[in-house]
Amino acid sequence: MIRSVIVGSGSALPKRAVPNAEMAQMVDTSDEWIVERTGIRNRYIAGEGETTATLAADACRRALEAAGLEASDIGLIVLATATPDQTFPATATKVQDMLGCRGGIAFDVAAVCSGFLYALATADSMLRTGMAKRALVIGAETFSRILDWEDRTTCVLFGDGAGAFVLEAREVAAEGYGDGPGILFSQLHADGAHNELLYVDGGASTTGTIGKLRMKGREVFRHAVVNLATVLQAVLEQTGFTAEDIDWVVPHQANARILDATARKLGLPADKVVVTVDQHANTSAASVPLAYDTAVRDGRIRPGDLVMLEAMGGGFTWGASLVRV
Ligand code: UT7
Repeated sequence: MIRSVIVGSGSALPKRAVPNAEMAQMVDTSDEWIVERTGIRNRYIAGEGETTATLAADACRRALEAAGLEASDIGLIVLATATPDQTFPATATKVQDMLGCRGGIAFDVAAVCSGFLYALATADSMLRTGMAKRALVIGAETFSRILDWEDRTTCVLFGDGAGAFVLEAREVAAEGYGDGPGILFSQLHADGAHNELLYVDGGASTTGTIGKLRMKGREVFRHAVVNLATVLQAVLEQTGFTAEDIDWVVPHQANARILDATARKLGLPADKVVVTVDQHANTSAASVPLAYDTAVRDGRIRPGDLVMLEAMGGGFTWGASLVRV
């Protein structure tokens, strides 16, 4: 059967690191509060010349290098972002130009913090139906540019960054969800009834402004734990694996307490969960590939591992993908 195999990953962060102590100089907060409630210790904030596209392109270059491929090998670019460089054209086309790819397919996906899961499932479907042979799947964000820097309930939570996978369509000698590498199964969900719990109060066709992020954190937290545990259970049931079969969970990095609660609900030991939220806070669509790439480069995720990717965010949207590395 044909599967989309992850043949390389890469990530990129802005130059400027902003530790909690610096946040405490901007708004009425403290390192203790942020660490205790979220696990976040640091975030990176894009400076002049750093945009969603430049971070995405840097992540892609590293992913291509890891895969031993050139930009010209790529026929499909799917970029997940809620903070595009321009309202249009798609940031994916800008990245395509920066990398020096010509032709092929390039477009953005908007599913906020679950964007990378949506982009991955979309690219996977397109590769398996033969629309391209290799894809760059990117999550890239500059949330610092849509934050209300006077709102301590949100500005301490987010950061900027990018992560990318190179996927390749390969003939794999496998049956069902067993054997061989590749994306085994993805499940995505959306429920538009909760718009007012997590949204941006602006847009091209409403206010004509970019707007600022608004969130009712406590309610989002509650939905996140329930929705994530449900989708993870559904993916396990569909594929016939159990929580014990999973080598690593790579979750969306919103809050260390959400990661703990979700792992506990599934009966997964905390040491199987890749946690990077302490280092780069919530980078929305970038957080899953950033965490994945971190764990590949530090030697935790290895070839043959069974890895669960999962995310939940504005919309609400949520989903999970089970991948054999
Ligand atoms: O990526 C998309 C998905 N997003 C998420 O998953 C976010 C989910 N939500 C969360 O992570 C958590 O709900 C938060 C981290 C946002 C908040 O943690 P919490 O434990 O739910 O706190 P809370 O909102 O209930 O606020 C507790 C208190 C409040 O004070 P009072 O009303 O109890 O006096 C807040 O005003 O903490 C106060 N507070 C702060 N204090 C110091 C809120 N933000 C801050 C802050 N520093 N930055």
